[in-house]
Amino acid sequence: MIRTRICDLLEIEYPILLGGMGSVLAPVLVAAVSGAGGLGALGCSNMNADQVRKAAADIRALTDKPFGLNFLIFIPNEEGLAAALDARPAVMAFAWPRPEQDLKPFFDRAHEAGSKVTFMTGEVPEARRAAEAGADVIIAQGTEGGGHVNWMATMTLVPMVVDAVSPVPVLAAGGVADGRGLAAALALGADGVLLGTRFLASEESPLHPNFKRAILKSDGHDTILTEIPDIAAGRVWPGAMARALRNRFVERWAGREWYLRQNRADAYARILAAREAGDAEEAYLLIGQDAGLVDDIPPAGDIVRRIAAEAEEILSGRLPGLVG
Ligand SMILES: Cc1cc2nc3c(=O)[nH]c(=O)nc-3n(C[C@H](O)[C@H](O)[C@H](O)COP(=O)(O)O)c2cc1C
Repeated sequence: MIRTRICDLLEIEYPILLGGMGSVLAPVLVAAVSGAGGLGALGCSNMNADQVRKAAADIRALTDKPFGLNFLIFIPNEEGLAAALDARPAVMAFAWPRPEQDLKPFFDRAHEAGSKVTFMTGEVPEARRAAEAGADVIIAQGTEGGGHVNWMATMTLVPMVVDAVSPVPVLAAGGVADGRGLAAALALGADGVLLGTRFLASEESPLHPNFKRAILKSDGHDTILTEIPDIAAGRVWPGAMARALRNRFVERWAGREWYLRQNRADAYARILAAREAGDAEEAYLLIGQDAGLVDDIPPAGDIVRRIAAEAEEILSGRLPGLVG
């Protein structure tokens, strides 16, 4: 059985985390990952206080295991943040500050609430800044990942962040979808992994079945780093692009972003309608390159157990045989 420092620190069985995904309201998915011995997190950046309270209660009604609440620091949401701290989750998971934002007040408040602090970043200097501000865990997120990412690949970023923030434990995110990814992350010096895309194609994921099928159909080569979803949603991120499926919607606006800005309201209304209708070509679908590794839609708990078992087999079965 694979155990790392993260298991003790977060009081979980497997070093496998579900990333908070603000656009995916999924207390059931969070509870399934936590219930299986991983750590689920819920993206709360766009929630008001009542919604945060209800989501935390919904998770607790399904599992008594630890879980996280996730906030994007650049999005002002004091009301939601205060409600999350009141809920005293095991983990407060932060990401994406503006460069001028001080991280320490966020981390201090989380610690005062009795939560551990994770901080996700795609850059070494920002990882160092978060470790100095008191983060308990740094998540090094590579550009392969789904949703908003930076430009460094997981393979290079993880060992660089491990060196930069040692002895603070590091998790690898971006491009990990199976036990091979977990084994590789441990070899790079990480203490575990955080996944998004893989869990979007799970039974408990609230995505429309057509969107789940689109993840299965994707070979990963058909994802693209783009600002088009953010332009359509009318939200500028501090230094990020979004990795999305290169579908008809993205193709329509690529190279004509100025025109999308001009027609934003209409385009966004069409996205919302497409999302509702389960049209995976006309809504944007944020997924990572690891969609190319996803070919089934199992219960999320099975994904957690499967990744752990596969990594264990690699570490104890295949790899030792390579050492003469
Ligand atoms: C649809 C989607 C929404 C996301 N939203 C958030 C978010 O609100 N907060 C956050 O910290 N990370 C968010 N992420 C990033 C994930 O936490 C994670 O870093 C990423 O999915 C890892 O890469 P992978 O998709 O290859 O597993 C999101 C990812 C996806 C795919």
